[in-house]
Amino acid sequence: MTDLHLWLRHEVRSTERRTPIVPSDARRLVESGVTLTVEESPQRIFPVEEYEAAGCRRAPAGSWVSAPEQAVVIGLKELPDQPGELTHRHIFFGHAYKRQPGAEALLRRFTAGGGALLDLEYLVDDSGRRLAAFGFWAGYLGAALAVLQHRGRLVAPLTPTSKEELDEILQPAAGDEEFTALVIGALGRSGRGARLAFLTAGIEATAWDLAETRDLDRRALLAHDVMVNAVLATSPVPPFLREQDLDDPARRLRTLCDVTVDVGSPLNVLPVYDRTTDWTEPVRPLRKEPPLDLIAIDNLPSLLPRESSTDFSAALLPQLLRFETGGPWGRCLDRFHQACRELGIAEGEFRHV
Ligand SMILES: NC(=O)c1ccc[n+]([C@@H]2O[C@H](COP(=O)([O-])OP(=O)(O)OC[C@H]3O[C@@H](n4cnc5c(N)ncnc54)[C@H](O)[C@@H]3O)[C@@H](O)[C@H]2O)c1
Repeated sequence: MTDLHLWLRHEVRSTERRTPIVPSDARRLVESGVTLTVEESPQRIFPVEEYEAAGCRRAPAGSWVSAPEQAVVIGLKELPDQPGELTHRHIFFGHAYKRQPGAEALLRRFTAGGGALLDLEYLVDDSGRRLAAFGFWAGYLGAALAVLQHRGRLVAPLTPTSKEELDEILQPAAGDEEFTALVIGALGRSGRGARLAFLTAGIEATAWDLAETRDLDRRALLAHDVMVNAVLATSPVPPFLREQDLDDPARRLRTLCDVTVDVGSPLNVLPVYDRTTDWTEPVRPLRKEPPLDLIAIDNLPSLLPRESSTDFSAALLPQLLRFETGGPWGRCLDRFHQACRELGIAEGEFRHV
């Protein structure tokens, strides 16, 4: 038996249909003795009734603010702006440890209320590897959108879909011209997803990872028709593309999808654009003659909410079943305290020991 009470909250962003816990995993948690309250949410890909059938309690959207103090509130993306003081422990992607806009304000809300952020990005194993991530589906979608754009079949605005529907339009059709594709960061989660989407589209992509970019051959890069960047940059490296490469008369590259979207960061390996694209306008031309189209969307997995939620939840479940003070969750908590110290935020009384 455990006295863990998890509170799955409604996401405030109306386009966010994903969830960190799917109903089948909710059932596993309930069966292991976890109390799981699930908020009603009009856009979540799984209806609240499926959670109820799995033994969860039902609560109105946003009611986590008055959840019992020991409840651990879980979601994916940003919290609403109110309340100003956060008293609970919250599991979600806070994007608050790299001095992002709003980061300090969010951490101050936690310290003011005595709560804590257990950031999913920092839920790592002993060797620092992420335990639950959406990368695979980001890569899959990035490559799929690049293929559709290259074949003139990308329809905007983009809307959430299923893998089945996506795979159907990815199949090569009569009259489609053959083309070459390159995936950089090919051995990672996103890179593997990207390569699989290319295969579904009938293309075996060239796969580059650290070994192939150490001594970067930009000519070879520019000789591909389509490129997907899926690296996770941790230290600065020479850019994969510079402005002058886009004007290289030998460039075959026509479609570029940046899954990494480190735009504005000193670690950016594609400093050839300054704004992301989005579901409404997924493609921006970087050059007209010969053309070069950019796709740089920062919420790709939300386009396949069922598949990406199911995989994420499966990876998170073992960690939730072992929710304890040490181990990965202990590291998450340490990281939160460290981030507060780095920002010079005086920590008040932390309520949860
Ligand atoms: N656009 C989106 O919606 C979205 C969603 C999820 C993740 N992402 C981003 O995608 C990126 C990749 O995430 P992931 O989960 O696949 O990471 P990962 O750690 O699983 O894989 C990254 C890969 O990049 C490789 N790599 C790192 N530096 C490289 C270099 N200089 N040259 C070649 N290869 C290099 C690594 O060796 C590794 O194989 C991250 O930046 C992540 O934030 C974007």
